[in-house]
Amino acid sequence: MKLNKPKIKNSNKLYKEAIKYIPSGTQSFSKGVTQFVNGFAPKYLDKGKGAYTWDVDNNKYLDYVMGCHPLVLGYADKDINRAVKDQLDKGSTFSLMNKLELDVTKKLIEVVPSAEMARFGKNGADATTIGVRVARAVTKRDHIAYCGYHGWHDWYIANTDLNDGIPKFNNKLAHSFNYNDLDSLEKIFKRLPNKVAIVIMEPVAVSEPKCFSSSICKKTSCKIKCQNTFLHEVQKMAKHYGALLMFDEIISGFRFSLGGAQELFGVTPDLTSFAKAISNGIPLSAIVGKKDYMKVLDKTFFSFTYGGDCLGLAAADVCIPKIKNKDVPGHLNKVGKILKDGINKSACDHGLTDYFECIGYPCRTILAIKGNKKNNDLHLKSYIQQELFRRGILWTAYHAISWSHKRKDIEYTIKAFDEVFEKAKKIINNNKSVKYLIEGESVKPVFRKVSDFNSYIIKNK
Ligand SMILES: Cc1ncc(COP(=O)(O)O)c(C=O)c1O
Repeated sequence: MKLNKPKIKNSNKLYKEAIKYIPSGTQSFSKGVTQFVNGFAPKYLDKGKGAYTWDVDNNKYLDYVMGCHPLVLGYADKDINRAVKDQLDKGSTFSLMNKLELDVTKKLIEVVPSAEMARFGKNGADATTIGVRVARAVTKRDHIAYCGYHGWHDWYIANTDLNDGIPKFNNKLAHSFNYNDLDSLEKIFKRLPNKVAIVIMEPVAVSEPKCFSSSICKKTSCKIKCQNTFLHEVQKMAKHYGALLMFDEIISGFRFSLGGAQELFGVTPDLTSFAKAISNGIPLSAIVGKKDYMKVLDKTFFSFTYGGDCLGLAAADVCIPKIKNKDVPGHLNKVGKILKDGINKSACDHGLTDYFECIGYPCRTILAIKGNKKNNDLHLKSYIQQELFRRGILWTAYHAISWSHKRKDIEYTIKAFDEVFEKAKKIINNNKSVKYLIEGESVKPVFRKVSDFNSYIIKNK
């Protein structure tokens, strides 16, 4: 395989200037210099097509970050681009409402089990935060039980270690529980009787929802359509204690299945948030839900200048049918499984299973890294990232595969992992540390303090 240390002269030049005027030089911590080996990795991308991106020094990469997940069809998809360009020619933001609001709402109602009504936002956090407000308005309660990552707003970030500037009362109102751990949720309800407004959670991230049945399916682990998964039990518990259930499907939506994880596992929540894949990266988010609850938005304030902006809606109007017609979730599962199996076989062939395991559902996998005293997790991750960059792969532990990641791309990636694991094996077996081979600064987690739930995912934000 051809090796190529990326030339990053233009990246470095831009960053040197940006850091003078832009705090941390970035708009999103997950795209900033702490997440990619600083000194070795590129810092600025210029363009993308399909599964590939080019940086400002014209290095080309097979991309597994895909803008942090939204690009489910790939960069610069021709149908999305056509729809957005056509809309741009007609106008993007208007003085009255636009028919696209209705068109996309109807498409969501058609494919998402929990969607009886919809409203739109721009960021994922708009949708999760209005979900919390709706539940508070419906229940007249203030507390939140949450599991997973839900965005930048006060109510969520209060309980992380990046909570400077957030009034302290917020961390008293939000309480995290652990995935597949019903007791951890019930403890919250018992500690705060009649006070919890909402249970908000990613229905699936890395782990599969545990089966709580007594017999057969317990042995085979939880299968799709099992009626007693963790998700079913959470739904029963939320109802029992009078809280609304919201699924945060900002990543799982349109990826695990056209109708989201709720369709796959057969659990219909009261409210759902979508973003990312809904419009293939043209900013749009949505909250959908049962009419009885969504109706409170008649008088609960969720209103802003770019609500109903037509570019994201024009993209979603084409993106949702394309995901359906091409069976994009089917493709993600197929090639994702080849990737997952290939990486795990390679880790096994190299005797590295104590250190590396590709985990998660095929459409959303992550390389779990377990270091030790000699080689900690972050050094191992940095080393793998660096060596994949050398092989033309842009990677930060998770694999946000898209419709544009074809079999040949996956096979190339497995070959690259094979070479990198071979190098790692030699270092580890000789009792050496990869730290000294990192040609820049080691990567750092965005958050250090997070809930236990799927901390791989959250730390890799
Ligand atoms: C599950 C989940 N919820 C909410 C969000 C927040 O979305 P945004 O960053 O678009 O506000 C994210 C972002 O990564 C996410 O992964």
